[in-house]
Amino acid sequence: MIKKICLGILAIAAIGAVGFGVYAYKPAMQPVTAADHANFPPEQVEKGRVLAGAGYCATCHTAKGGEPYAGNYAMETGFGTIYATNLTPDMETGIGSYSQAAFRRAMHEGVGRDGRHLFPAFPYDHFTKMSDEDIDAIYAYIMTEVEPVRTVQKENELPFPLNLRILQAGWKMLFVDFGEYEADPEKSDEWNRGAYLAEGITHCGACHTPRNILGAEKSSEEYAGAEIDRWQAPALTAANASAVPWNAAEFREYLVKGSSTYHGIAAGPMGPVVHAGVRELPDSDLTAISVYLADKVGGDDLDPADSDVVRASLERNAPDRRYRQVEGERLYTTACAACHYNAKQILEGRPDLGINSSVNQDDPSNLIQVILYGVNSHQGTEGVVMPGFAQALTDDQIASVAAYLRADRAEKAPWENLREDVTQLRARGPGSH
Ligand code: HEC
Ligand code: HEC
Ligand code: HEC
Repeated sequence: MIKKICLGILAIAAIGAVGFGVYAYKPAMQPVTAADHANFPPEQVEKGRVLAGAGYCATCHTAKGGEPYAGNYAMETGFGTIYATNLTPDMETGIGSYSQAAFRRAMHEGVGRDGRHLFPAFPYDHFTKMSDEDIDAIYAYIMTEVEPVRTVQKENELPFPLNLRILQAGWKMLFVDFGEYEADPEKSDEWNRGAYLAEGITHCGACHTPRNILGAEKSSEEYAGAEIDRWQAPALTAANASAVPWNAAEFREYLVKGSSTYHGIAAGPMGPVVHAGVRELPDSDLTAISVYLADKVGGDDLDPADSDVVRASLERNAPDRRYRQVEGERLYTTACAACHYNAKQILEGRPDLGINSSVNQDDPSNLIQVILYGVNSHQGTEGVVMPGFAQALTDDQIASVAAYLRADRAEKAPWENLREDVTQLRARGPGSH
C-alpha cells in the first residue's frame, strides 16, 4: 500500500516536472542582421526616445562612467548582484541580433532572444503591460540612435540555486500577471492612461510597492511604500505621511520639475526617475499619471496655500528669540537656517522643512541622506544644489538636528535609534545617485 502511494507521488511529481519543463521551455528566436533594422520613421524613433526615458532604460543599462546603454550596471538585490546587460545594437554582445518580435517577447515575457529566462531585476513584470506599438517604438529608437558598443558582460554574483534561470520560470508562474494593460471601465480615459503609464513603462511600483521574501511586489500592498537603496520610497496611498495632502497639481509639479512646493524634492533614486525622462512625456501623459496618483492617495483638491499646517509651519519658521535653547535648534540655526529660513522659499519650490516629506515620514533615512550627502544638481530642482554635511557634523549633531526638525517643526512622534541610523547610513556611503 505504502509502496503504491510512493509510486503515485513519484508519478505526479514526474508529470509535474515534465509539465513545468514544457511551461519553462522558451525557444531561441532567429537572429537578425544590422540591415534588418534600418529605416524606421523618424516619428517612431522620437516616440521611442521619450518612452525609453520614461522607462529609465539607460539608468539601469549604463554602468557608472560607462558608455550609454552598454550594460554592466550593478544592481544590488537582496539575493546578490545582478549586472544589467548590453542594450546597444552591437551584434554579438548587445541586442543587435534581436528581431522586433524577440524584443517584444523580452519586454512582455522576460525571455532573452536565446530563450533564457531573465531575472526580474529587469522590470518586465511591468513592461508586460505595454502595447506592442510602444515597445516597437523603443526598439526603433535603440536600433537607430544608440551607438553599438562591444563589451565583456560581467558575471552575476548570485548564490546557487538562485543563479539557475530555469527557476525564474517558477517565479513567473507564481507572481507575474502577464498581459497588456486592461482598462478599468469604471474610471475615466485619463485615469486609465495614467494607470497604463504608471503600472507599465514607468514602473512606479518597482520602488514604491513592498516586496515579499522572494522579491516579488506584494500586489495586495500596491504603493504602500518600500525601502530602496538605503532610501525610503514613500507610500503613494492614503498612508502617505506628508503634512499637506498630495493632489494632482502637486504630483504634476513634482514629476515635471523634480520638486513640489508643499512636499519636497525628488532626491536619491527618485532623482533619475524624474530627470532621466518621466518629465519628457507629453503634457497630457504627465497630467494623466498625476490624476491616477491623486486617486490612489485619495487627495482632495484643496489649495495647499490655504492649509493651516502650512501657515503654522511658516510662522514657526520665523526667527525666534528662543533659538539656541536645545542643541538641535542651535545647529539648525547655524548650519541650515542660512538657506532654509524664510517664507519666500516656499514660493520658489523649496518647502519649509516643517512640512518637508522627509521630516514627516515614519523613517528618517531620506532626511539623514540629504543632510549627510546634500543634493546634487541632477536631483530635485535642476541645477540647484545643497552641500552635504558628512564632514562638518558628527553623527550626534546630525541626529540632534533631525530630532529637532521632527519634534519641534513637524510636531511628530520622535524617531527611535536616530543616532544609530546616522552612523549606519554614513558607513554605507552615498550610494550611486
Ligand atoms: C531597474 C533596472 C532596469 C530597468 C529600468 C530596465 N532594465 Fe532592462 N534589464 C535589466 C537587467 C538587470 C537585465 C538583465 C537580466 C538578466 O540578466 O536576466 C536587463 C535585461 C534586458 C533585456 C534583455 C537583453 C539581453 O541581455 O538579451 C532587454 C531587451 C531589456 N533589458 C530592455 C530594457 C528596456 C527597453 C528598458 C526601458 C524601457 C529596460 N530594459 C529598463 C535591468 C533594467
Ligand atoms: C528607483 C526607485 C523609484 C522609482 C522607479 C519611483 N520612485 Fe518615487 N520615490 C523614490 C524615492 C527613494 C523617493 C523619496 C525621494 C526623496 O525623499 O527625495 C520617492 C518619492 C516620490 C514621491 C514623493 C512622495 C512624498 O510623499 O514626498 C512621489 C510623488 C513619487 N516618488 C512618485 C513616483 C512616481 C509617479 C513614479 C513612477 C513614475 C515613481 N515615483 C517611481 C523611488 C522611486
Ligand atoms: C547652502 C544652502 C543650504 C544649506 C546650508 C542647507 N540646505 Fe538644505 N537645501 C538647500 C537647497 C537649495 C535645497 C533644494 C534643492 C533642490 O531643490 O534641488 C535643499 C533641500 C533640503 C531638504 C529637502 C529634501 C527633500 O527630499 O525634499 C532638506 C530636508 C534639507 N535641505 C535639510 C537641510 C538641513 C537639515 C540643513 C542643515 C544641516 C540644510 N538643509 C542646509 C540648500 C541648503
